[in-house]
Parts: sequence; structure tokens; C-alpha cells
Amino acid sequence: MMTTSVKIPSLETDKHPLQNEGLRPPVTQCPDEPRSPGWFRHLKFFTAGLLLAIIAVRYVVPTFGGFKLGVPETPLDTKAVCPKTSAIVPHTHADILKKLEAEYANESFHDQAFAWLGGAVKIPTQMYDDMKQPGEDPRWDVFKKLHSYIDSHFDFVNLKKTNINTYGLVYHWQGSNTDLKPILFTAHQDVIPVAPDTINDWINPPFSGIWDGQWLWGRGSCDDKPGLIGSLAAVQKLGKAGFKPERTIVLAFGFDEEHGGIIGATKIRDHLLSTYGEDGFAILIDEGGFLEGRTDGVIATPAVAEKGHFDLRMVVSSAGGHSSVPPEHTSIGILAALIAELEANPHEPHLYRDEPYFTALQCQAILNSELDDDLRGLIKKSRSSDKALFDLEKKLFATDVLADALSKNTQAVDLIGGGVKSNALPENAYAVVNHRIAQHSSVSAVKAHIVDTLTPIAKKFNLTLDAFGDELHGMSNVVSSGHLKLTDAWGTALEPAPVTPWIENSAFDFLAGTIQTVVKTSKRWNNPDIPVAVAPGILSGNTDTRYYWKLTKNIFRYRHVSRFDKYNGAHTVNEAIFAEAFIDLIRFFTITILNADETDLLG
Ligand SMILES: *[C@@H]1O[C@H](CO)[C@@H](O)[C@H](O)[C@H]1NC(C)=O
Ligand SMILES: *[C@@H]1O[C@H](CO)[C@@H](O)[C@H](O)[C@H]1NC(C)=O
Repeated sequence: MMTTSVKIPSLETDKHPLQNEGLRPPVTQCPDEPRSPGWFRHLKFFTAGLLLAIIAVRYVVPTFGGFKLGVPETPLDTKAVCPKTSAIVPHTHADILKKLEAEYANESFHDQAFAWLGGAVKIPTQMYDDMKQPGEDPRWDVFKKLHSYIDSHFDFVNLKKTNINTYGLVYHWQGSNTDLKPILFTAHQDVIPVAPDTINDWINPPFSGIWDGQWLWGRGSCDDKPGLIGSLAAVQKLGKAGFKPERTIVLAFGFDEEHGGIIGATKIRDHLLSTYGEDGFAILIDEGGFLEGRTDGVIATPAVAEKGHFDLRMVVSSAGGHSSVPPEHTSIGILAALIAELEANPHEPHLYRDEPYFTALQCQAILNSELDDDLRGLIKKSRSSDKALFDLEKKLFATDVLADALSKNTQAVDLIGGGVKSNALPENAYAVVNHRIAQHSSVSAVKAHIVDTLTPIAKKFNLTLDAFGDELHGMSNVVSSGHLKLTDAWGTALEPAPVTPWIENSAFDFLAGTIQTVVKTSKRWNNPDIPVAVAPGILSGNTDTRYYWKLTKNIFRYRHVSRFDKYNGAHTVNEAIFAEAFIDLIRFFTITILNADETDLLG
């Protein structure tokens, strides 16, 4: 097979892919993003013509890549194809877009946009784990500053603002056609705190909001103030340009996303549900997924899935006493045995043909010419051959830790405690084990695995066992030498999110077609023929959308920012965004709103 010989700069080069002189390449991705397999970094793209040829061969010629295609495709097979999408551009609103594109290209707009974002980054809306309700904790006061900042820099004559639980912000822009379901953009106002002992590691102070000519610096510059300020900026500019929507537009901004959204997003959900109803929105776009943008090709991965979450607490209790006459095993020794048993019995990773990750692999097999040929062959064959699927699993999981983690329930022992003094037997010892639950699993399956794994050890040490509220019997014939209690550590168990369909879902086609347009008409790429692929992504972490499942089945977690546009990711020192990327994010919001207003893909 022939491929184009265009060179795609790799992450390892010391230049920003779209920049001749960069300070340093961004190397880490924001933690709560969908993880791409390592070989994502070496994408090369076929020419569009060759791609069409491949697709034609795939569907017309009876055999391809060594397996028969005469077999009728099952729904699973259909799901497992890399989605094909075409660009969607505004027609009725073409003049408004033309006007705004001219304005967005103007240097003076860039200065204004960077100042808007920098000003928001300067306000340290740090979120702490022990925040009390608004009104009961003075650390919330700084959010008032952010609100006055927004009020004084944006002038929304067309929008109705509602405050939710004091600091939540919901903006409503009424459309003229109430038959159209509204479109919803969400973002969060809060940021991860800056650890005081890391301040000296920042190249520019963490709340400086400085634009150095290339990067815009500070906590929140990636996560998630571009989503907040970028969507506000787009709405502001659309209003000033005379846009009058047919489809209602809603913006909703949480304020404790970094602490799980329990104070903010739950209340925002209640408000949105009571105002717009269940399944009341055509589409929801939140933070999460990203794009990989190189000079010669772009792959975007809006996340259609979020893994679930379960924190196990195990507490071993046994008799205390003087440590000079100890039993054979103390509670700490028994806890150690329990932990060792869990680690010796990890969950098995698996690939399922109807899961988004399998589809993402199919896109790789088509688009990534640097892929190992064996792997490419296996990926293609695995669509219809169980043997190939099995071989693919073996090969992939042995070489790619991210693929492995995305394809199973992960477990990590993250907390441990016990004992008070070196000459006293510990009466209690505990550990907390964090699990991230794959789409094909569930909270109850994780609990069952824990009970199955730990029961033999509890028996061996003659412990009575309380497993998630069930006193397990059949262990009472032994003299108890202690007790093991298993609980949901914080009561925060979360099932994997319902997966947003990406096949035969016009809302996915809408988003993918819009992304195509935003990239192909971007001044940064300056290449209307650039190959753009849109593949479904998975988030290993969670966003405020964990509470928004009932608002729409079309939840996409996607910020139109390349991971190369992040200096050092989020949640760590030197958070910075490549400022030009923020302009494209505003373009993304603008074009999405215009397209949504005239498309028939959103119902
Ligand atoms: C850019 O914007 C400024 C300020 O609005 C304006 O004076 C200038 O003419 C614009 N430049 C172009 C090339 O449109
Ligand atoms: C458990 O109990 C049995 C019967 O009482 C005893 O023989 C055994 O040594 C005990 N095991 C431990 C680890 O304490």
C-alpha cells in the first residue's frame, strides 16, 4: 500500500507542530482526558484520494486484508468501522460567519481574547476537597470576583442569567423556534489549587494570566477557563454580529467540578431538568476529549464514554494488647495479605467490538501508516475473526499500558493506615483501593470480584466478614480472630456513563462535520484539504456530565484544543495554553452554534 510521504512532526521533536519557534514542547496531557495509545503520536495520513480508494475497495471488492467480506455485516461490525464524516458549513448564516471570521483573524481581536482569558485566569477560583456549602465557607468569595469580571467584560443583552446554588451560572439565549431542542455547552469555573511548595517551579506565577507572545500562563488556562471564556466570547460576538438564533442556546457553568460536582453540578442538573425536561437538549458539549493537530493531519476524539468509579475501604479489626505477647498476625499483617491478594488478582482487560475503543483502533488501522503491520492486520481481521481479536488483545495489552488500562477495571491501593504506637497491637488497619470501571463492567461486578478474591483470605485468617452490608455466613464455625469490613469508602460509587452512540447517530455526524469545518478553515493550519478524522474517545476520569445523563443521550466531552497546545497539561505546575489555540476554540463554539441553528441533524 502506498502512503503519502508527508512528514508529521512527532511529540519528541522540540518544536510546536504548528510553530517554528516554540519555548519547549508540551509533554503531558491533561489528566482527565481520553488516553490515546502511544502510537497515536506517530500518525501519518493517507491522501484523501487513497482513503476513498481504500473505502471503495473495502466495500466493493469481496476480499481485503485477508478476510472475507461476503459475510453480511452484523450491527457489531457496523459499529466497529472508523466513522466517515464530511464537513458541515453554515449556509443561511454564511454572512455572519464571514464577518466574524474576519474579526477573529484580526490581531486586535487576538489581543482582546487573550486579555479576556488572562483576566479570568488571574482570579484564583481554587477548589478544595473540604469546601462547605456556599455561605458557610469564605473560600467561595473569590467566585464572586469571577462573576463581576464576566459581568463587566461581556454584555449579554440577549441572555437571561440564572444563579444556581449561588455560584452556578446558567445563561439562556432564547431561540425563535421552540420546536427545536436547545443546544447545551458546559464548562467549570473552579480550578485545582496550586500547592504552595510548587510556586517556585512555575515559569510564570500560577495566577499571572500572562501572555508571553505564544503561551498564556496560569492555573485554569487549560482546565477549564478556555471553555468558560471561549463559549461566552462566541455568544457575545454572535450577538454583536446580529445573529438571532432559531434554536435556543444554553451555557451552564459548574463551580466544584474538581471536587466531583456535588455542590454545583447536581443543582445545575436539577435546574436544567426542571426547566428543559428529561432529554430536553439536542446535544451537550463539555470538556474532556481533545484533538491531535499536526501540520499534515488532525484526529479529534470527542469522548462518548466515561469510566465508572469505586473506592473500596477495607478495615481489619482484631484484639489489641501489649505488643510483647503478639498473635501470629496483627491486623496490619492481615491487611497486607488482603492487599497482596487483590494485586495478585487484577481484572482482565478485554476488547469488545461494540465499544468506542475498538472503533478508535479501526481508525488507527486506516489512518496511521506507521502502525506495525502485524497490528494493523490484526485490528482489521479482528472485526470478524474471534481468533484475531484474541491475538490483538495479547499483542496490544503487552505493549501498551494505556490500551490495557482503558480496556479493563483498574485497581490501585491509594491509602493505608493503622496503628498508633510501636509497642501496642493495632486494633484497626485500613486501606482504600481506587477502581475505574470499564463500560463493559459495573459497580456490582467490581464488588463481586473483591468479595470472591478476599473471602478465601478472610477464611484463612479466621475473620468474620461484612461485605458491603452483608454479613457473610458459613464462616461462623471457626473461632473468630478478627473482623474484615468492606465498604464504599466515601459513598461515591459511579457506574460507567451510558455510551453516546457514534454510529447512525446524526448528532455525532453533526459534531464531526463541524470539527472538519473548524479545522479546514483554520488560519493555523491554512490548509482546506487537511485530512481530519473524528473517532470516539473514552475518558478515564469524570466530568460534571456524570450528573447530566438525563439531559440528553448526545453527551460529548470535547474541547477543540490540540494536546500540543498544552504546555504541561493540567493539575500540575506550568499550566499554559498556546494562545492561538484559544482563537480556534472560540471559532469552534461559533461555528457549532451557527451549524446547530440550521442543521436537520439535531432534530
Ligand atoms: C482590526 O481591528 C481594528 C480595531 O477594531 C481596526 O481598526 C482595523 O481596521 C482592523 N483591521 C483589519 C485588517 O480589518
Ligand atoms: C483459625 O482457626 C482454627 C480453628 O480454631 C485454628 O486451628 C487456626 O490456627 C486458625 N488460623 C489462624 C490463622 O488464626
